[in-house]
Amino acid sequence: MARDAVAEVRERTDIVELVSAYVPLKRTGRSYKGNCPFHQERTPSFIVFPDSQNFHCFGCGKGGDAFTFYMGMEHVEFKEALQELARRAGVELQTIPTVAPEVDAHRQRLIDLNEQAATFYGNILLNSEVGRPGREYVEQRGISLEMISRFGLGFAPDNWDTLVRYLAQRGIDPGLAHEAGLLQERDNGGHYDRFRGRLLFPIRTRDGRTVGFGARALGDAQPKYLNSPQSAIFDKSALVYGLDLAKDAIRAKDEAVIVEGYMDCITAHQFGHANVVACMGTAVTEEQIGQVKRLSRRIVLALDADAAGQMATLRSLEMLPNALGDEEMPVAVPTAGRGPTPTMVIAWERKLNAEIRIVQLPQGKDPDELIRRNPETWPDVVATARPFLDFFIDGVTAGVPANDGRAKAAAVARIAPIVHAVGDRITEAHYASLIARKLGLPDSAVLSEIRRPSTQSRQQNQPQMPNRPSPMQQFPATSSQEDHLAALLLVYRPILAGLLPQVREDDVYDARNRELLHVLKDPGIPLELPPEAIIAGLDDHVADHADRLVASLDGTPVRYPGQIERDAAGTLGRLRQDRYKSQLTTLQAQIRDAQEQGETDEMERLTQQLSALVSRHREFTPPKSPYFKDLRDVKPGESQSATGAAGPIRPA
Ligand code: UTP
Ligand code: MN
Repeated sequence: MARDAVAEVRERTDIVELVSAYVPLKRTGRSYKGNCPFHQERTPSFIVFPDSQNFHCFGCGKGGDAFTFYMGMEHVEFKEALQELARRAGVELQTIPTVAPEVDAHRQRLIDLNEQAATFYGNILLNSEVGRPGREYVEQRGISLEMISRFGLGFAPDNWDTLVRYLAQRGIDPGLAHEAGLLQERDNGGHYDRFRGRLLFPIRTRDGRTVGFGARALGDAQPKYLNSPQSAIFDKSALVYGLDLAKDAIRAKDEAVIVEGYMDCITAHQFGHANVVACMGTAVTEEQIGQVKRLSRRIVLALDADAAGQMATLRSLEMLPNALGDEEMPVAVPTAGRGPTPTMVIAWERKLNAEIRIVQLPQGKDPDELIRRNPETWPDVVATARPFLDFFIDGVTAGVPANDGRAKAAAVARIAPIVHAVGDRITEAHYASLIARKLGLPDSAVLSEIRRPSTQSRQQNQPQMPNRPSPMQQFPATSSQEDHLAALLLVYRPILAGLLPQVREDDVYDARNRELLHVLKDPGIPLELPPEAIIAGLDDHVADHADRLVASLDGTPVRYPGQIERDAAGTLGRLRQDRYKSQLTTLQAQIRDAQEQGETDEMERLTQQLSALVSRHREFTPPKSPYFKDLRDVKPGESQSATGAAGPIRPA
């Protein structure tokens, strides 16, 4: 491609304008700041640098360019971000890439294999003698033929080698089928069927590609559901069961209902409620919510009584943000139980601009049973869904005795940080009076509890500072350094296999380098795969960039052993050092600004950030390289790799 479309889009995109559509920004010197949209905070640590067209958050450490920002906000891939930003900037893309999220050829083969298996098992369920137990089971569960075919259900007979033999007849490598999650490996290298004596539920991506299975035992065998193993193509936490079939209905109803189980989802569809998808029993993840939200921002979680109860009575976790202080609050707190934490739900609502409501199902009933018993009332049940906060508040305040002051204080203490996290004063006031009514307290007492956690200055309510020049620095142009690092990692991937895992996503700001890094780190892509093959699997625009990276190394022959490793580790080190230094100077400049303005709160806050940054300086140092100590042992002329990963040396 003659012209670099990405560079052109980047040039014509004003990152300040782009970000402003999501976050109110305030000018400070040469840069702009606002509340970070990637984590929760009430005082701005999120800085946009118009000169370098980058952003960086001092609170959560996220940073990047316009593409990374858009990808993060909208939960889309690079391709989609490029298309949208190109459209806005009026740049015509010469090659509009077709939708192919599973770009890489190897992953494609694994997916093909899963689809072949789905067809095979589907045939057994419907047409073969050995499928009889499966047919009896679906009949007993009342699954209609139409649903069996729409969801592609299948049956794996109770043998060790049904699939093994089928694949052998077709000359398919059992090793590949093992990698695809379909076969298990014996110690002697042989293989046997993973799924035996089970009803199979193919699990598909939103585009309808089968990437794995959930397999239900017909009796009480454990586990009840055996799922495909986590792999390059199957990540249960990033998949939403039934989404491929529910897409249209979710759009049409402008509402999505998330249930827990495969059967619940299928039954809902069978009885005409096709906007239902399943989270497959795990805690709902941000990834899942993000996917569903692209179809409708109105999301209902239909949780069984246990899960709902757990969410409402969460003990210590939602106290975490408070204990850590706002600035440190992670967007996603690790979950202990089955559900997301209340803090997470609030964070998702804000971050994804979603509206999450909860419907609590009667004790011991799941949607499958409810719908079968009374198909028409399901919409009424869903309609009882309540905004997450109301639901949460009910759960916490229920059963607090009217005469127990301490219990009331404890309830308020539990709720306050969650309400506080919503971050707007009207909502706070609304819930304060709701809680006050429930507990028989004066509104003002509850409200002050809610507002107490952060008595720091509220930037957004302060008058604008007049624009004036400031010594504020922008980040130096590190793109050539990160390009160089990306080039080395791409061309010498086998040699740098030891360093690769230590390169963090946030070490690079260019969305294309980040995308490339993601692919290079994918353990599903064999180390032997030459750079051209890796590039062939990339999006066109990332591929163009990668071609340039490869070319940039032309004419820089390798002269001594360990040179590549040294160069890569050194570049990474400089990249981190530069970023560290510029963050430091930015903060120092801000502190001086605040000092001149006499903003003592702000100064104190910035100073805390500064000391946090300094204490994190380790993160900015290059990883201790295992290479150097071994280099003495490598004699000239031997393999470049001191890590033992032998690989082609390019360019020759
Ligand atoms: P449930 O135990 O509620 O099962 O798990 P279910 O969906 O109601 O299934 P039936 O009606 O007993 O057949 C809910 C979901 O959790 C996941 C599955 O996705 C299941 O649909 N799960 C459950 C597993 O992945 N593994 C298990 O062992 C159990
Ligand atoms: Mn069930």
